[in-house]
Amino acid sequence: MTSQLLPTRRAFPADDPIFALNAEAMARRAGGGSVLNATVGALLDDAGRLVVLDSVMALWRELTESEVAPYAPIAGDPAFLKALVQRHWPLLEGPGAACATPGGSGALALSLRNFLEPGQRVLTTAPHWGPYATLASENGVGVRTAPWPAAGVPLDAEAWRTALTELARTQGRILVWLNDPCHNPTGRSLSREDRTALGDLLREAAAAVPVTLLLDFAYLDYARDPGAVAEALKDYAALGGEGQVLVGAAMSLSKSLTLYGARGGALAFPWCGDPALQAALTQSCRGTWSNCARAPQALVVRLAREGKAQARLAAEHRHWSDILAMRADALDGALAAEGLAPLRWEGGFFVLASVSNPEAVCARLKTEGVFTVPLPEGLRVGLCGMRADEASRFAAALRKASTL
Ligand SMILES: Cc1ncc(COP(=O)(O)O)c(C=O)c1O
Repeated sequence: MTSQLLPTRRAFPADDPIFALNAEAMARRAGGGSVLNATVGALLDDAGRLVVLDSVMALWRELTESEVAPYAPIAGDPAFLKALVQRHWPLLEGPGAACATPGGSGALALSLRNFLEPGQRVLTTAPHWGPYATLASENGVGVRTAPWPAAGVPLDAEAWRTALTELARTQGRILVWLNDPCHNPTGRSLSREDRTALGDLLREAAAAVPVTLLLDFAYLDYARDPGAVAEALKDYAALGGEGQVLVGAAMSLSKSLTLYGARGGALAFPWCGDPALQAALTQSCRGTWSNCARAPQALVVRLAREGKAQARLAAEHRHWSDILAMRADALDGALAAEGLAPLRWEGGFFVLASVSNPEAVCARLKTEGVFTVPLPEGLRVGLCGMRADEASRFAAALRKASTL
């Protein structure tokens, strides 16, 4: 027992639960078991190999010493921040108040430290990406949730209003993390009507207290309908441009460029030029990681200058989005054949199968060699790591495990 370790820091699990489940699936497979591993959180091809985008790797290999070795500016290379923001909003002239971060995770963490006091709560959806809770607790805040709409059902505006009113009253400021479009883990996006309703509620709250909406853009490049993503971005830009609600984005190079391990990303508030916010972000960077890796920033700057590389990247994104759509459609077809509800994937790496008692169903699925991630709302199924021809095995196992 390490007595030096703070008592409050002694009861954590040794391994991240998702990584532990994945390790269990891999060990079962290595032992000769027939395994369907839907716990994976990275995009794999049908042979189970990690997808690494060729267009990105070609740029990576071109990086020179001076694009890799020196420190990057503390808040990140301004050309990188501008290029990253313009990937999402091409009409913007600059990134506004912004800084480079190690992945989207770094951006999420900095938002907590700059927009909430210790002990307050960030508002996000249920379900959400599990590490949101870890990011919150490591930064001394809590999580309040409001429901993400079920497939084909409108946003529960009353539940959101209640949550916003409660937070406005109890903490006098609101930070919302919204992983839209291409939500992890449901694989769906808000409808235009949902987004309008949420925008109205946020504006209403912003009339009383400071409200920040941080869009978590982890999976935007993997969508069934890129037009719908563009429409969502336009709507969020309109909300941000009004200036009542502070709208920002947590951006990540992990999935978008398959540079998971390069730890590239940014936190940006494109419609806010407040020097105090910029200074606060820079201060957070200096006091947390000092500055971020230069190579991924240099790569994004190169990408922004090279039209051909952009076209190659767009084609690769389309290819892999089509593969994800095929896997999702195969899964919905197989679920229908078992009399189960479709999951209606629109984007991202996952879908969520709603079951009662997810832990028990997950355990029963494991006995069939099918590995999923149990969440309070259901089972997270990684389309990113499954083949379309595994869909019928998955659906049959799910029907059996959820009706036992
Ligand atoms: C919803 C969501 N947000 C943010 C992230 C952060 O990823 P990274 O820190 O690698 O950019 C992830 C990664 O899985 C995610 O699923």
